[in-house]
Amino acid sequence: MAELRSRRSNLAVPGSNPRFLEKAKGLPADQVFLDLEDACAPLAKPGARKNIVAALNEGGWGEKIRVVRVNDWTTEWTYRDVIEVVEGAGAELDCLMLPKVVDAAQVRALDLLLTQVEKANGLSVGRIGIEAQIENAQGLINVNEIAGASDRIETIVFGPADFMASINMKSLVVGALHPDYPGDPFHHILMTILMAARARGVQAIDGPFLQVRDVDGFREVAKRSAVLGFDGKWVLHPGQIEAANEVYAPSQEDYDHAELILDAYEWSTSEAGGAKGSAMLGDEMIDEASRKMALVVAGKGRAAGL
Ligand code: GLV
Ligand code: MG
Repeated sequence: MAELRSRRSNLAVPGSNPRFLEKAKGLPADQVFLDLEDACAPLAKPGARKNIVAALNEGGWGEKIRVVRVNDWTTEWTYRDVIEVVEGAGAELDCLMLPKVVDAAQVRALDLLLTQVEKANGLSVGRIGIEAQIENAQGLINVNEIAGASDRIETIVFGPADFMASINMKSLVVGALHPDYPGDPFHHILMTILMAARARGVQAIDGPFLQVRDVDGFREVAKRSAVLGFDGKWVLHPGQIEAANEVYAPSQEDYDHAELILDAYEWSTSEAGGAKGSAMLGDEMIDEASRKMALVVAGKGRAAGL
């Protein structure tokens, strides 16, 4: 898999609130997404487009990945979201996030529109990526074709609130375990998204946790997707950022161990080390498969600056 940029924390910022847009610039999230969809009331959307263009052009986002979430294709807003934002600030934008994606055609439609706006405005064609949100049964059933629908796809994002509503889930707490279910009700959904993402070499991102003052609850939910292999999670509040950055990075101990495995394997397989097929690190035997596991942990640790 190509080395992908760190997306441990993905901060949601309503495009309709200039104060929040300004504040987000200084927060330590790996990614920000400036929202034109559900965090913006219908009447506020035209103003939010303008706020977002201004905030992107003003700069000051540091190393953060800058994303704008447009409205979904069933609304009347999507085309104007794309045109206004990309014409206005395309050079300052890394990705568009497309919510409620149900099939590959919706991704291709965005890809085609983006290509035209890029060409017409002298922007580098294909540079702006797409993040696809899976938020209903149709999207989950088609997630493999969605993940492969365009070279622009950078992440597949779980949208648990809309998803729970769309399948009539009998719970109001996003991502939490339920006392009446003996297991994790989200396991199948998360794994299906993760497999689709990994099969295409793109990132898998977990969605929001709405109880923003319950940072322990956030950590608990985040750990479950982090352990599966998810790359990061949405954060709705500055108080969740640090927890996400920690949970989705390997621990220092695991990171250091992974680098030791890589060094031991490199030495043992080299000519000077005897060109062996496996290595020993203390009592641990290391082969090509364990090298790959170590590479994942080391890669995440390096991207997180450990
Ligand atoms: C996010 O968009 C969600 O619906 O959870
Ligand atoms: Mg949603």
